[in-house]
Amino acid sequence: MTDSPPAGPVTEVRVRPARPGEAAALAELAAATFALACPPHTSADAIAAFLRDVLAPANFEVFLADPERLLLVAENDAVTLMGYTMLVFGEPHDADAADAIRIRPTAELSKCYVRAEAHGTGAAGALMAATLDAARERGATGSWLGVNQENDRALRFYGKHGYERVGIKRFLVGERYEDDYVLERAL
Ligand SMILES: CC(C)(COP(=O)(O)OP(=O)(O)OC[C@H]1O[C@@H](n2cnc3c(N)ncnc32)[C@H](O)[C@@H]1OP(=O)(O)O)[C@@H](O)C(=O)NCCC(=O)NCCS
Repeated sequence: MTDSPPAGPVTEVRVRPARPGEAAALAELAAATFALACPPHTSADAIAAFLRDVLAPANFEVFLADPERLLLVAENDAVTLMGYTMLVFGEPHDADAADAIRIRPTAELSKCYVRAEAHGTGAAGALMAATLDAARERGATGSWLGVNQENDRALRFYGKHGYERVGIKRFLVGERYEDDYVLERAL
């Protein structure tokens, strides 16, 4: 007999803050998941440019060091980085979003990505719940996000988690502006 606690199920998802040394791993996760959010007309060149310019390891170094941002990751015993979110606290820099949202202080859910193999497993729900808790703990009373109007799966997911459409904004991928919905929920 040992007195160690029984091991949990291997599929149990844990959510924790990303660590300062994880920029490269987060960039790999971003590269594996960013295209899943893009509409079918987004070109491979545009996706590659976005990954190079916005989601590279150097970008994640900056995100991780920014006190106005919080990155959370989901993992289980088998997969270290299964998904991630990034909150951005403070007023939206995007003018359309600033006009659309109604609740302040706010926290933008700037990124919410889970590896395709973990979709539909509940991992994203655990990540979302922990992310909303973290936003509340920092004093936000609302949360907003932008999501592509063609991203039906994410729209359904966000709706399940209490976000409602409050406006529209444009989002640049490559040289083309995409139309996003602005969604918001109270915390
Ligand atoms: C958004 C994301 C995190 C949600 O995670 P998930 O595991 O897919 O979420 P869930 O399974 O809990 O919820 C998705 C819902 O959409 C439904 N759905 C799946 N495909 C769909 C589709 N093509 N159209 C409409 N609904 C769809 C699912 O059935 C589920 O609804 P249900 O629980 O009522 O059955 C995940 O899909 C993801 O990482 N997508 C790629 C990145 C992305 O788009 N991020 C958002 C950027 S703003």
